[in-house]
Amino acid sequence: MSNILKIIIGYVAQHKKLLAVVLVALLSVASATLSVGYVFRKLIDNGLGQNHAAEINNSIYLIIALIAVFAFGSFFRSYFINLIALKVVSKLKADTYRNLLKNDIVTFEDLKIGDIISRLSTDIETINGMIINFLSFFIRNGIMLIGAISLMFIQSPKLSLMVIIGIPVLLFPLLRLSKHVRKLSKKVLEEQSALASNVEETFASVRTLYSYNQQEFTANKFDNKITSYIKHASVRLRLRSMFFALAISVIAAAITGVIWIGSLDILSGSMSSGQMVSFIYYAIMVGVSAGGLAELFSEIQGPFAALERVLDLKNLDHDIKPSKTLAPALASYNIIFDKVEFSYPSRPDIQALKSISLTIEQGKFTGIVGRSGSGKSTLMQLLLKFYNHQSGKIAIGGSDIEHVSSDLIRDKVAYVEQYPAIFSGTIRSNIAFSKPDATEREIEKIAELCGISEFVKDLEQGLDTEIGERGVRISGGQKQRIAIARAVLYAPEILLLDEATSALDNESEKQILQNISQIMPGKTIISIAHRISSIEAADNILVIDQGELEASGKHSKLLTESETYSLLYREQADIGSK
Ligand SMILES: Nc1ncnc2c1ncn2[C@@H]1O[C@H](COP(=O)(O)OP(=O)(O)OP(=O)(O)O)[C@@H](O)[C@H]1O
Ligand SMILES: [Mg+2]
Repeated sequence: MSNILKIIIGYVAQHKKLLAVVLVALLSVASATLSVGYVFRKLIDNGLGQNHAAEINNSIYLIIALIAVFAFGSFFRSYFINLIALKVVSKLKADTYRNLLKNDIVTFEDLKIGDIISRLSTDIETINGMIINFLSFFIRNGIMLIGAISLMFIQSPKLSLMVIIGIPVLLFPLLRLSKHVRKLSKKVLEEQSALASNVEETFASVRTLYSYNQQEFTANKFDNKITSYIKHASVRLRLRSMFFALAISVIAAAITGVIWIGSLDILSGSMSSGQMVSFIYYAIMVGVSAGGLAELFSEIQGPFAALERVLDLKNLDHDIKPSKTLAPALASYNIIFDKVEFSYPSRPDIQALKSISLTIEQGKFTGIVGRSGSGKSTLMQLLLKFYNHQSGKIAIGGSDIEHVSSDLIRDKVAYVEQYPAIFSGTIRSNIAFSKPDATEREIEKIAELCGISEFVKDLEQGLDTEIGERGVRISGGQKQRIAIARAVLYAPEILLLDEATSALDNESEKQILQNISQIMPGKTIISIAHRISSIEAADNILVIDQGELEASGKHSKLLTESETYSLLYREQADIGSK
């Protein structure tokens, strides 16, 4: 908890000037409020007690002046505190977002997108309230409490002791229960997050949902989650309300006691009525400030839990493995896998790659084939340093990639995923994603060669057509063409195509692959093939089977030497001839 406080104080402390204004405003509001008690005493003892109209008028003028100070102070306090909170939360949000993007891929296997969204929106907004509460009420109530207690003692030390004993009684149960509330708050936030993830997932796959008629089932599942959420949230509400009721009763009891004993003191002449009125005023101030502080304490547990969740994201460890000495550049681009063994972190007992060794020559077109699940995509993920292999060596241009920064590798390698990512925006912005400063001519030329112009010419807004979130308004094959264009625009030394043309017809596939080879002369192209026909002409073909290299060579050689290859080829030829 102290760590969390330190971080948030660090953020708030970046706004020293604003904080100074807030402090001045808080002090003037507090002193104006506290001075009213003194004026009351003068009004009653000197004005009412001695029939002095001028004294009454003066007291009222003074109160009006104090109200003016209060009003100005309140405005500055409220405005600047909210401004600070706004700035702190925005900065925290931006920092967390930036930090998230520094994490390795494995992180995102565990985190749900909806969860991230919820932490960066709902959770972070509760922190806004916490900062405002802290700056505004915590400090103000603190000042008021100390001020009111001192002034109370001046009025009547005996009664003051009575009230002072009441405060710990008030605070004690609240402190004990606050831990409980915090735990519950975290649970409530987690459930809120799960709800958000649920919504995200539902609407991201709404077509599947509808086609299987699972709307009712999905809605019921959501209902169950809501029910559990309400259960926990209401327990939390109950506890908080209990605090409040408790606080109010203790305050009321203390004041009744004060009135009782004070009245007896006035009768015996050891206290004036003005003294008692101003004492009660201060006692109420003490009660309200202390009660407010206690309530804040319980209220702050929610944001603390939220802050913990945001900071969990902000402080996630990044970079897979801190490399020892990093190579400044890559000399050439031959790729070697040497006895590489690899298991995914989430499935450590299953080897996706088993002591695989292979060579991919620079400047050549290499095809990779193999059955589903044999480890083809995994090869590409390792090359991109999305994961660390457990043993063996992967080298590019003779440099062990352990000694090459992932940035440098990704600078030279372009990757078209098996299921390409399309962002909301236009076709143009999706292509230019890899090179935001690309010229119009560059984009148009690549769009032409990747078969995009072909379908874009029928669209009214051409390349500037909006394609919807995740590209819902275009076809699978069109998405693939855009993803390929994006990769080619990046002008990589090594182009990785993971079944990048699987949704295209044979003819377009051949044409596009041929075009790519022409635009990228001398560059390495590695293509995982969906259809063997697309890589028949490759300079070299690697056959992967169950995480191992079964064979490699040209098409004609593999047909006779590789069982898997000839089998795959015949299967596809059969389908083709049917
Ligand atoms: N992120 C992951 N976490 C855990 N296991 C994974 C992950 N990705 C893939 N695997 C497993 O690793 C093995 C190899 O998967 P890979 O994706 O490399 O296969 P592939 O040859 O590309 O198959 P496909 O042709 O179906 O795309 C499979 O058994 C798969 O279940
Ligand atoms: Mg794959």
